[in-house]
Amino acid sequence: MRARGGCLADGVLGASPLIPVDGPRSVDTSAPTVTPIVTLGVEDWRPVIPAADTERYAHELEAGAVLVLPRLTFVFAPDETRFLNVRWSDGKAKNISLDGTSIRGAAGGADDLAALARMIGRFAADATALVTALFPRYAPWLKRARTSYRPHGAAGRAVSWRKDDTRLHVDAFPSRPTRGERILRVFCNVNPFGEERVWRVGEPFEAMARRLLPAVRPMIPGEAACLSALHVTRGRRSEYDHMMLGLHDCAKSDLDYQRASPQREVRFAPGTTWICFSDQVMHAAASGQYMLEQTTHLPLDALYEPRSSPLAILERISGRPLVAA
Ligand code: SIN
Ligand code: FE
Repeated sequence: MRARGGCLADGVLGASPLIPVDGPRSVDTSAPTVTPIVTLGVEDWRPVIPAADTERYAHELEAGAVLVLPRLTFVFAPDETRFLNVRWSDGKAKNISLDGTSIRGAAGGADDLAALARMIGRFAADATALVTALFPRYAPWLKRARTSYRPHGAAGRAVSWRKDDTRLHVDAFPSRPTRGERILRVFCNVNPFGEERVWRVGEPFEAMARRLLPAVRPMIPGEAACLSALHVTRGRRSEYDHMMLGLHDCAKSDLDYQRASPQREVRFAPGTTWICFSDQVMHAAASGQYMLEQTTHLPLDALYEPRSSPLAILERISGRPLVAA
């Protein structure tokens, strides 16, 4: 049985203007057919933000924007700068990750790994404080998930097309069904050598879904129960999760889509933090090295505008509920 959402078909690129980061806050409305980029002048992980602004930021995020904070960086303590080296990776896992207190994907002595875990844990606390300050409405709902430290280059590793994050995609996890809950991610480029992290972002979720959904194979009756019984998935995969995996696969495997769909390049300088709903924003990491990332899950009840969520959009397009009660 295929464990994936599945695409009926199988299988970089044009650059566009850099994001403007002039002034405390600017909204780029020049390209409505691609993901909007909103720049915020926030300089602190625990900022005090007027309520009207927090509401506006949440609406922009929920509408599918990437919020970029070019003046907010994560500072390494002097004895942590040694971690800016790929030798701390175990060479097998793509990322070093912290899940609760357990660190994975790292290599080193016990004291070093404990110090590395403390550093990643500090980023997790900062990223969570930032999300709480920027979007106070979400605060009671936040479910902190994995934190990752990514010492490897974003491009150049030999991976299958499915795992190739240099291709445009929305995030969907084969083993961890979300059943419609949102995937909110905070990223920070911590490169010490001046290297930008370069992303491409793509068209809005609904346009992408309308284009690619016809190529997603239908779910087979009994498939979800089977995957769960075999422990392929943690919990039951919903039809929504199946469609999201299918969209992820169809986008990545379609080289014409990768080349020709609406997109723009975004360059994140070292010392920049950015936030998006990565289940909604079409994104691809073209290059860059050394990044921290925090994943948080958010139930739909937390949103101002649940109608703009991927679940609501896919249910509107398909005309039926996609998550069983
Ligand atoms: C991804 O989430 O697809 C990768 C982002 C990155 O590595 O910059
Ligand atoms: Fe991704």
